[in-house]
Amino acid sequence: MSQQQQQQQEAVNGVSSRGKVLTLDTINPNVKRVEYAVRGPIVQRAVQLEKELREGANKPFTEVIRANIGDAHAMGQKPITFFRQVLALCSYPELLKENTFPEDAKSRARRLLQACGGGSIGAYSASQGIECIRQDVARYIERRDGGISSNPDNIYLSTGASDAIVTMLKLLVSGEGRTRTGVMISIPQYPLYSAALADLGAVQINYYLNEDNCWSLDVAELRRSVTEARQHCNPRVLCIINPGNPTGQVQSRQCIEEVIRFAKEEHLFLMADEVYQDNVYKDNKFHSFKKVLFEMGPEYSNTVELASFHSTSKCYMGECGLRGGYMEVINLDPDVKAQLTKLVSVSLCSPVLGQIMMDLVVNHPQPDEPSYSTFMKERTEVLTALAEKAALTEQIFNTTPGIKCNPVQGAMYTFPRISLPQKAIDKAKEGGQIPDMYYCMRLLEEEGICLVPGSGFGQREGTFHFRMTILPRTEKLKIVLQKICAFHKKFTEEFS
Ligand SMILES: Cc1ncc(COP(=O)(O)O)c(C=O)c1O
Repeated sequence: MSQQQQQQQEAVNGVSSRGKVLTLDTINPNVKRVEYAVRGPIVQRAVQLEKELREGANKPFTEVIRANIGDAHAMGQKPITFFRQVLALCSYPELLKENTFPEDAKSRARRLLQACGGGSIGAYSASQGIECIRQDVARYIERRDGGISSNPDNIYLSTGASDAIVTMLKLLVSGEGRTRTGVMISIPQYPLYSAALADLGAVQINYYLNEDNCWSLDVAELRRSVTEARQHCNPRVLCIINPGNPTGQVQSRQCIEEVIRFAKEEHLFLMADEVYQDNVYKDNKFHSFKKVLFEMGPEYSNTVELASFHSTSKCYMGECGLRGGYMEVINLDPDVKAQLTKLVSVSLCSPVLGQIMMDLVVNHPQPDEPSYSTFMKERTEVLTALAEKAALTEQIFNTTPGIKCNPVQGAMYTFPRISLPQKAIDKAKEGGQIPDMYYCMRLLEEEGICLVPGSGFGQREGTFHFRMTILPRTEKLKIVLQKICAFHKKFTEEFS
């Protein structure tokens, strides 16, 4: 039945003659502008292919390998035993009576349960998060940052980092026309940022990372982009992802210092997305924005406004389904902080199991506790394997002419540049497709490998990339890398 016929029918039945309240024409236009490549058309096709394979379809591959999303457990990574023991005990406290779990897991669970309303994880918590967990987060930050103090009142537990990032942006976006808030984000970027900015109707200000220098962040480029943006909006926020997604770079201390100086000069609010802070490989070192800010002295540490974000989703934990995270805010105006606290209270609280998971990350077993050695072994295994895979990825990709891969210094991704023959570009355009989308779709159809086209993250005009996670197990990753290289050769030959 057509929509018109349906409306007539409804009118006959006396229901309504005015059709749906909510249609694509009446929906919030900002929502239509939101794009999220990481779960876009390629992934939808991957799901379809998996279904076809299950139904016995004949394909040139026997399984679809998902290297599109930073979901470690989905790629076979095992959870950290201690974390799951405490979560199990908190979820079902009857287990505390049994001898199945080690004493340190039990005492941790008792302490956390005591902090929950009615001793149950089923109770709402304070909106900012359970107090003792915020204290543990603050102590963790102090240890991480060499003793620089952290105030639990400045910690907000969140539903993953995404929630805190969006909340902070909500506070920051205001104005109309030329006074509308502009938010500076790196290109390539993690699409949460562009999606949130579209949703909030903020102005996205792109600054480009320097691919020729391992995706480094160049202050001259920040200056260029802010100067241009001032012509049409009010730049107020600078977002940094370190270690980087999708580009896998780790910022040097000096670079961070320059960025902080720039933020002060330009009067920008800094948002530091540090969800990959333990994913740092080889000789690279993670420096938190908070630490560098305080080491720069009171001129900076008393003035520059900073929100930094962490999560249970990445690093060695990969517990993204639990939706745990925190944000630390520095130099926030006290009245704004009250507004922030009010805003987070509207959604009551973040999931209590996620908060507990966050606690375990910041307060993991200590050397004198029974679970320490297993914990360290499991943690080290994951991080060592990731470091190995980061090196392997760079090495194998760079053997193939037409694929250029920067070192994967951190995080869980590589974003290699691919040279596409002009005929392939033309062919993609004829079909109304962006060239790297066409490339990735062909790779999926022919090899069963699911990647995300670079266009989903933003890239310099005329360049093409894809993002691949380094999460498949080492042996599988080798095969995936070799298959991509072989595909690239075949694809290039086909269009030469
Ligand atoms: C840079 C970055 N920030 C934030 C997130 C969101 O993490 P969460 O699962 O904690 O919301 C991700 C997830 O991939 C990410 O890569």
